[in-house]
Amino acid sequence: MIQDAIWTPSDNDLHAEKTRIATEAGVIGQEKLEVLARAAFAAKDRTYSPYSHFPVGAAVLDTKGTIHTGQNIEVATYSEAAHAEEQAIKNAVSTGVIASQGRMFVRAIAATAAPCGRCRQIIAEFSDNPLVIILDTNGNIQTITSLVIFLPLAFSPKDLPGQ
Ligand code: THU
Ligand code: ZN
Repeated sequence: MIQDAIWTPSDNDLHAEKTRIATEAGVIGQEKLEVLARAAFAAKDRTYSPYSHFPVGAAVLDTKGTIHTGQNIEVATYSEAAHAEEQAIKNAVSTGVIASQGRMFVRAIAATAAPCGRCRQIIAEFSDNPLVIILDTNGNIQTITSLVIFLPLAFSPKDLPGQ
């Protein structure tokens, strides 16, 4: 039956996820989340965005508690722009986190704008449903949600044979 194939998140799923987000935010702690937010906001100042004039900063909290930052870096050809969230993750990888923490090292990621679809996919590669934190224009935490809310039914390494 075609009707049986229809899917949206259930009210129960959404409620359970909201509870999980609240618990995880509590375990990480407000102080650490505010440090993460400040790191993302400060990273914005290191932007290279002469074409869009839209600086973006991001910061990853890894599973060992270390923070890694990134900011957007544009190119005159436009489509080669590196996004802040992508850079924060790639900078973390460059410090060797895969060897010490494994592929799913992103516990939380904060950014000064909502992550685009491509960044959501990159976050998915290196996490198991992390907190996603969006800051307001003053650098304060505006929204705390999670990747599964941003990217339900994601394609991920588990969809590839042998992964
Ligand atoms: N941008 C990011 O850095 N992250 C996102 O996910 C959204 C967009 C950047 C790319 C570009 O340099 C500028 O914001 C305007 O799109
Ligand atoms: Zn992006």
